[in-house]
Amino acid sequence: RTVAIVGCPFSGGQGRSGVDTGPNSLVAAGLPASLEELGWKVEFDGHQQFEHINELVGSDAPIGVMKNPRAVSEVSRLVAAAVEAKLREHKLPLTLGGDHSLALGTISGTKRVHPDAAVLWIDAHADINTPSTTPSGNLHGCPVSFLLGLPGTDVAPFKDWLPAKPALQAQDIVYIGLRDIDSGERKILRENGIKCYSMHEVDRYGIGKVVDMALDHVNGGSSRKRPIHLSFDVDALDPSVAPSTGTPVRGGLTFREGHYICEALYETGSIVAMDLMEVNPSLMQDHAEQTIAIGCSLIRSAMGETLL
Ligand code: ARG
Ligand code: MN
Ligand code: MN
Ligand code: MN
Repeated sequence: RTVAIVGCPFSGGQGRSGVDTGPNSLVAAGLPASLEELGWKVEFDGHQQFEHINELVGSDAPIGVMKNPRAVSEVSRLVAAAVEAKLREHKLPLTLGGDHSLALGTISGTKRVHPDAAVLWIDAHADINTPSTTPSGNLHGCPVSFLLGLPGTDVAPFKDWLPAKPALQAQDIVYIGLRDIDSGERKILRENGIKCYSMHEVDRYGIGKVVDMALDHVNGGSSRKRPIHLSFDVDALDPSVAPSTGTPVRGGLTFREGHYICEALYETGSIVAMDLMEVNPSLMQDHAEQTIAIGCSLIRSAMGETLL
């Protein structure tokens, strides 16, 4: 099997610079060679070229409250095409962020090739604000609402390329790790019946049971054969474990809980695409190396390390 690294140096979905250096830090830490050691063929021919778009960030005037809307839309459109192309070549696209707005692109790409794919979204945040509910205007807090085509997301420039029939349905996504949900998001999650395993459920049931329940949910209780898109925001982990990230929230997943999720999903044999997002080495710089190392080891776990 071939894993194709899609490095996405992009920070326009949020306000803190440095997250655009995440992909290169993960690669420079030896990620490609470590995946080869696990038996993967690794394809990496440099990061996505977003210079022309990154130049836009700053002069990209808000549309309503949305910050950097043109940059985020254009990057997502390009990333969707890149992920789609790798999947059509029967490779596993591994997208390195960059901020989590990129998942609008990655999941759009996955759904074009695997319309039946389910999304496991591992995060402290639900990232399901719409342009009407977002308290920050940061689009990394909104990708899921655009994927679901929720009211308020039919706006330029996104509507120029997003499908008229939304890529994702509410029952296709399940969250693990949530602990910072905005009031508008709470309402959306409830009204759409979206399955969430917050840190409360992780405490109550333990991570093993939570992952089982999450997989049963997306597979309708049946044979667990649905393709899985794993979108992992490193801030799902507790900030004591992964401090170098833009929106840390205490009370998160332990080192083992995060790795367990990746191992258990690898065991299903159903992962078709993975995102590792929000590593920002310029924050909490004394801990940047630790955060980068954990990003790499989460990926290795999802790619089969530690399981015989
Ligand atoms: N909910 C907050 C917002 O909409 C924070 C989102 C954080 N998202 C992330 N991908 N780290 O701004
Ligand atoms: Mn997050
Ligand atoms: Mn908040
Ligand atoms: Mn996120």
